[in-house]
Order: sequence, then structure tokens, then C-alpha cells
Amino acid sequence: MTIVYRPAREADVNEIASVYVETWRNTYAGSLPDKVLLTMSIGRQAASWAKSIRRGDEIIQVAEDSEAGIVGVGSCGVNRSRRANFKGEIYTLYVASDYQNQGIGEGLLASMFEALQAAGHDSAMVWVLSDNPARFFYETVGGRRAGDRDEKIWGVTLQEIAYGWDDLKRARIADGRLNRHAWVGGDD
Ligand SMILES: CC(C)(COP(=O)(O)OP(=O)(O)OC[C@H]1O[C@@H](n2cnc3c(N)ncnc32)[C@H](O)[C@@H]1OP(=O)(O)O)[C@@H](O)C(=O)NCCC(=O)NCCS
Repeated sequence: MTIVYRPAREADVNEIASVYVETWRNTYAGSLPDKVLLTMSIGRQAASWAKSIRRGDEIIQVAEDSEAGIVGVGSCGVNRSRRANFKGEIYTLYVASDYQNQGIGEGLLASMFEALQAAGHDSAMVWVLSDNPARFFYETVGGRRAGDRDEKIWGVTLQEIAYGWDDLKRARIADGRLNRHAWVGGDD
């Protein structure tokens, strides 16, 4: 397996949409209403990703395997919430189920941290559903608890937790891995 992390192109949208729909269904069954998951469509998702890529107002990164094609996708950009002490925000991060736990999520996050820094955002946060085990992934890769909120969407109230990274310079990315101990209070 050889993974490359790179910006998404419009030609990628069908593969991105397949990864997205598959991981949403696997991840959110039981957390989000069945109807939302069942009615997701790869065609509509592909159109929506194509629109985002054309607009260019989000950074979209993919993880591409030399044989399997796109196996992960993440998007990020300016922080949309009022927690302005974090400049950037990770909006989405999804690795195809068969490719999880092989370092690809961390590699994609590292590539988004680099892209956020290049865009002038030196800190970042992410919101995750509190019952999603992915929250422990963010703890493993150095995120610190940065708040919680209730989101009302699709007729349900969802509890979310934020994780934040104060100083993306401290990521010290090597071989696609993040420096897990350098975020809070460490020396630069
Ligand atoms: C969460 C997700 C992006 C992580 O990506 P991944 O490729 O599976 O994770 P990685 O292999 O890069 O993991 C990096 C480290 O985090 C750890 N880790 C990964 N998932 C974890 C979890 N759920 N709990 C605890 N640790 C976890 C790994 O063990 C690894 O640590 P190690 O190198 O010390 O063993 C991926 O599992 C995913 O797409 N999940 C479903 C969708 C989702 O919930 N996305 C987040 C929405 S906010």
C-alpha cells in the first residue's frame, strides 16, 4: 500500500462520494436518523463535493492508494464557530472502513494541518459527536478538549465535543505522523 496525500480534484468526486457515504453509514448508524443515512446518495454527494472544489473556499485533501484509489478524504478551512481562539477548523475526516487503523487518518490530518498553516491558520479545532469513538483518535493524536455543544439537526439533538490544537507549528510532521506530545505547554 502506497498512500499519497494531495488536494482533491474535480475528477475525484465519485470516489470521494463513495468513501463518504460508506463511512457515514458505518459510523453513524444508531446515532443519526436511519432515514438520513438511507437516503444519502453517491450522485448527490459527488455533485456537492464538485461544487465545493469549484468554489475553492474549503481545503479538501484526499488519501490516494496506488492500487485502490481514494481511500480517505478530509476538508478544513476557517473556523465556522465562535470559538475564535482556534483559527482553523477540520470540517470532515473520513477513512474508508477497510483502510482504518493503518495511519491514514493521522496522515490526512497532518496534511490538513500543513494546508491550514499555509493558508495562515496556526491553530485548529474539530467537532465530533460525543458517542463517536473517533473522539479517542483525536485524543491519541494530541487534540485537547476544547468545549462541547448541542446541535439540533434532522429533528434530533446531538451532543458534540470539540478538540483543539493550539499551535500547528508544533505538529512537527515526520513520515505523515503527528507529534503527539507537543501541543500543550511544550517547548517549540
Ligand atoms: C477516525 C478516523 C478518521 C481515524 O483514522 P484511522 O486511519 O482509522 O486512524 P489512524 O490509523 O491514523 O490512527 C492514528 C492513531 O490513532 C489511534 N486511533 C485510531 N482510531 C482510534 C479510536 N477510535 N480510538 C482510539 N485510538 C484510535 C490509532 O491506534 C493510532 O495510534 P497508534 O499509532 O499509537 O496505534 C477513521 O477511523 C474514520 O474515518 N472513522 C469513521 C469516520 C469518523 O468518525 N470520522 C470522524 C468524524 S469527526
